[in-house]
Amino acid sequence: MRKKIGVVVSGRGSNLQSIIDHIAEGKLQVEVAVVVSDHKDAFALERAAKAGIATAVVERKGCRDKEEFEDKIDEALRNAGAELVVLAGFMRILTGHFISRWEHKIINIHPALLPSFKGLDAQGQAVDYGVKVSGCTVHFVDEGTDTGPIILQKVVPVLDDDTEESLAERILKEEHKALPEAVQLWAEGRLSIRGRKVYIGK
Ligand code: GAR
Repeated sequence: MRKKIGVVVSGRGSNLQSIIDHIAEGKLQVEVAVVVSDHKDAFALERAAKAGIATAVVERKGCRDKEEFEDKIDEALRNAGAELVVLAGFMRILTGHFISRWEHKIINIHPALLPSFKGLDAQGQAVDYGVKVSGCTVHFVDEGTDTGPIILQKVVPVLDDDTEESLAERILKEEHKALPEAVQLWAEGRLSIRGRKVYIGK
């Protein structure tokens, strides 16, 4: 039986689409059990519905506090039987309240080569800093912001005339390969974490 993942999103959902497409092409052997969005009008929800995937909307404003917000996300994931939580363009920071319940079971895609350019607008930070290469990172989520053990990274050049938008587009193409690749490694049971390091088994 295929392992089940829950994908948590906030917006456009192109990384979710890449997961859906990789599954359809037989390159990723998991089932997306649910897509959870913190915005009811996220385009990602339409992508999920089109692929016949269950969806849940948990909006921060409908919750008393952050704990209730995280409890509801947790509930939606558990009710669907998710074994791994994939943050694919989820634009909020989860606290220890949530993360401690999913130790080493949450992965995130970040549009920079961590530990450079953590947080928001990573692509703009890279352009402003003047780095010559950037890329994306898939990592396990710990209680820091974009600090967890790194599963894999992909590199792209930064060109002299790059804008935040042009760099983001180049990085996004690599994100669409990196995230399904990391999820497939997890599904095959090939990821082990020792300290800060993730080892990929043969
Ligand atoms: C992606 O570039 C992802 O790496 C980034 O948001 C975008 C979502 O695009 N995530 C973060 O910046 C997380 N801090 P998508 O909705 O089309 O997948």
